Amino acid sequence: MSSTAPWWRDAVIYQVYIRSFADANGDGIGDIAGIRSRLPYLKSLGVDAIWINPWYKSPQADHGYDVADFREIDPRFGTVEEAEALIEEAHAAGIRVIPDIVPNHVSDQHVWFRAALAAGPGSPERDRFIFRPGRGADGAEPPNNWKSCFGGPAWTRLPDGQWYLHLFAPEQPDLNWEHPDVRAEFEDILRFWFRRGVDGFRIDVAHGLIKHPELPDLPAREGPDPLAPHGGLDHPHWDRDGVHEVFRAWRRVADEFPGDRKFVAEAWTQAPDRLANYVRPDGLHTAFNFDYLMTPWDAKELREVIDTSLATLGSVGAPATWVLSNHDVVRHPSRFGRKVVKKWVANEVYRPEGPLDLELGTRRARAAALLMLSLPGGAYIYQGEELGLPEVEDLPEEVLQDPTWERSGHTDRGRDGCRVPIPWSGERAPYGFSPDGAAGEPWLPQPPEWRELSVAAQEGDEDSMLALYRRALRLRRDHPALGDGTLTWLDAPEGVLALRREPGFLCVVNLSAEPYALPAHKDVLLASGPLADGRLAPDQAAWLAL
Ligand code: NOJ
Ligand code: CA
Repeated sequence: MSSTAPWWRDAVIYQVYIRSFADANGDGIGDIAGIRSRLPYLKSLGVDAIWINPWYKSPQADHGYDVADFREIDPRFGTVEEAEALIEEAHAAGIRVIPDIVPNHVSDQHVWFRAALAAGPGSPERDRFIFRPGRGADGAEPPNNWKSCFGGPAWTRLPDGQWYLHLFAPEQPDLNWEHPDVRAEFEDILRFWFRRGVDGFRIDVAHGLIKHPELPDLPAREGPDPLAPHGGLDHPHWDRDGVHEVFRAWRRVADEFPGDRKFVAEAWTQAPDRLANYVRPDGLHTAFNFDYLMTPWDAKELREVIDTSLATLGSVGAPATWVLSNHDVVRHPSRFGRKVVKKWVANEVYRPEGPLDLELGTRRARAAALLMLSLPGGAYIYQGEELGLPEVEDLPEEVLQDPTWERSGHTDRGRDGCRVPIPWSGERAPYGFSPDGAAGEPWLPQPPEWRELSVAAQEGDEDSMLALYRRALRLRRDHPALGDGTLTWLDAPEGVLALRREPGFLCVVNLSAEPYALPAHKDVLLASGPLADGRLAPDQAAWLAL
């Protein structure tokens, strides 16, 4: 990358799911002090920035995505002063800090929603949300047929007869983005945190802010839904063109501050060109590439999604981003270790099916890391991915906390399996997540097999996933070919990906069932597994110097 290009064009950003990263005060829930204590680890891993899931004051109905006050830190996590200290210490370690902002909805405990409830139907306080009378003779039917992403209807009725909209849990009422108060308030919240030194924001549900003014019913779903998964033409609440005006204003706010700030949109769109609408020189800087995340372990499909991403994002001057896992999806060693992978459909969690071969999934995860980190643009690493953590699929029902579990009538176990606290060290739970002798148990139980996957257990092991990520990140920093730029595909047998970056770098990934003889090269810079007579076994990848 040229030294004048902004940092966010090819940053490696580590996702800190704060509840599960590191618990300093021993209550079993991760906190800001825990993140501060682990900054040396993040520095040695070699990431450029951290994205921290919502840390604001919140009743935690959806683990922080229900924000009661954006200018306060939740006492479980710390204080605004601690957040400021973290930002300063992270900067001193060369790590930028990107909090999460949640503009689509607030908590039902937010002052605005409480005021709206108190003020009653027809009041200006209710205008900041989406309140409507019901349908049917006595208004007992919801205003339309929209569904909550966590299951059940997207409307809840109040004792006074009115209904309010929540695309997520009932504790997360949707804001009315046509209201000037809402726009002004969020611009002010951005400034509040920019003044405290944050380097950007991850924008939750960026594609959901604007609703069709008439709130029409969704068409009945029969067969393949033209509006699914998220987005589609004229969807009444996803990916409406009006959202971009909001983000153009946000960009102006970010540009008021010196240095390069960055936004990354969580925007689920139906087609890559719809995603490109979010990232413009006068709009957001970047967006998550969920098409990449959802692509199965298949050479043809991967090459296609890589090409399309680079072309569509490149056409608007935006860098691509790459992501394999996050706090909402099944961890990728568990996805790649299964045959059948169901794609995301509206209101259903992305879930692989069939028996699990974790050894296979982990081998593929190692190769997938080398592929992802060799691609032009930025990359995201979800905490624990660098340890090779699998999904925890056997959490007992009584510990499940994701609202999806209740709202789906116990048919969908939800996302807790990818949110289990990180193992740092030691022979037994909490594996260094909480201090020794802590009063609180980790908020989700850690499996006994994680003893071998802890940071300490992997630290001295050259063949560990952690060692692979560290080496890859170091090479990515040092090698002039990696990061921002372009790629060229080289001819390779079916099922093999060979991508060249200039100067003199080749990434080869073998997704076929046969060993693949490496092409002529000067040096093997890194391999995801041992190379037998210069051949790449199935599900292996290597970085070569040419
Ligand atoms: C997307 C977040 O990633 C997810 O965790 C959350 O439940 C929803 N948005 C609602 O805010
Ligand atoms: Ca704690």
